[in-house]
Amino acid sequence: MTDVGIDAIEFQSGKLRLDLANTFAPVKGEDPGKYTKGIGIAYSSLPDVYEDIVTMGANAAKRLMDRKDLTPDDIGRIDVATESAFDNSKPVSTYIAGCLEQVHDGDFHHANKGERKFACLSGTQVIDDAYNWIRAGRNRGRAALVIATDTALYERGDPGEATQGAGAVAMLIDEDPDIVALSTEQGYGSADETDFLKPNQQFPSVDGKRSIQVYLARMREALEDYESVAGDTHPDDFVYFPFHTPYPGMVRKAALLGYRHITRDTEIEDILADDIGMQPREADFEEREDFEEAIRAYMDELKETRLYREWYEAAIEPTIQIAGQVGNWYTGSVHVARLSALRAAAAADVDLAGEKLLVGSYGSGAQAEIHAETVRDGWREAVDAIDVEEQLEERYDLSFEEYELVHDVHNHEKETDVEEFTQPSAEFVFTGWGRMNERRYEYVE
Ligand code: CAA
Repeated sequence: MTDVGIDAIEFQSGKLRLDLANTFAPVKGEDPGKYTKGIGIAYSSLPDVYEDIVTMGANAAKRLMDRKDLTPDDIGRIDVATESAFDNSKPVSTYIAGCLEQVHDGDFHHANKGERKFACLSGTQVIDDAYNWIRAGRNRGRAALVIATDTALYERGDPGEATQGAGAVAMLIDEDPDIVALSTEQGYGSADETDFLKPNQQFPSVDGKRSIQVYLARMREALEDYESVAGDTHPDDFVYFPFHTPYPGMVRKAALLGYRHITRDTEIEDILADDIGMQPREADFEEREDFEEAIRAYMDELKETRLYREWYEAAIEPTIQIAGQVGNWYTGSVHVARLSALRAAAAADVDLAGEKLLVGSYGSGAQAEIHAETVRDGWREAVDAIDVEEQLEERYDLSFEEYELVHDVHNHEKETDVEEFTQPSAEFVFTGWGRMNERRYEYVE
């Protein structure tokens, strides 16, 4: 069976940035360490006035098609994952295809287009759909363009405001891919939850503390489900563990739980036992509360051990570096985590070909999904071609007053006229509304 997976990736950050430690923290009266160390985000990427989910997605997709020298005929499917859609009927993929048709010869009239919804998880579900479509042999030799794009904005004053972000990740899903091949095995953890939702409203209703617990619970279930089909996981099986990263502090919590799980009944648990004892087993406790207390004490000690710290530095830290510079990109976030790890490996000149990643996606509401990926020979060249650092360095630094204006510009309830902060060049821009209230876009040279 030919491998199917990610053949190319492109990244588009919002062109503005908010410095959480130096601009946001002083106004909020908070210690900067809360953002840089606790939450783990130094800067949030935010969209300029002419940017939105369509422009960011279309700009990433255009660069991807240009780099791979693709024409519309090469693409049989365009799927968009977003939780920032502005239309309950017309999918964002039609807007993005319309943008791309402005600059490419030919059209996407015979490509299947759609939009997927399951909070942040849908960025992985669009990859699944493409994988299944190719595996089913319905692709006629064509590849799928999948795009995860979001303006992850919260109500002003919501605790989530510190985790905002805006950006898109475009990926080409194809046979014999250059970057990673996807495992057939998957695990799911899914339950009807009300942790984070947008019932016909632009900004989310969030139960922040509960959302953390739901993320961890669903992720654990997904890992157990994955192991039920793929066999037990061991830290040595995977070079990186890219996880959905609403903020790096969340991944720190998930990593510790994950490490406890994947080291249980292994030689690592035995080695650790010399310092911190064996992991508490529920069967040894009469009361659930006592077991949970013992688990908490074990985890407190586990996170200080040399073995855990070394594993975290090698397998987790590289996955959260970009998130710390851009904030939460919702549907794109786990794909930013994968890219972050691959970029870190490239920068350290590590050869990853043949190595495996364990990828954990999550969407509020809630569902987690876990699968494995095998890095392919072409990964290095494909990842080196992406201008992540340049984009991040070129972002315009907002003052707090400018941030307030930008937030208002993107608030659907407000009408705010603000000059752009950056000059668009060789990109798609939002130009206003048409007669049926559709959004309109143009490519500017
Ligand atoms: N130095 C170092 N650390 C500090 C600090 C300082 N000066 N001050 C605070 N901290 C630490 C805190 O101890 C805390 O860490 P722990 O959780 O490990 O204890 C961390 O910084 C955050 O501080 P608070 O808990 O006080 O922050 P908060 O209550 O203002 O909000 C939040 C945190 C609940 C995550 C909020 O940002 C939020 O609601 N975010 C949106 C929801 C979210 O992202 N949930 C994640 C799971 S859901 C999901 O993944 C889907 C999605 O994409 C949204």
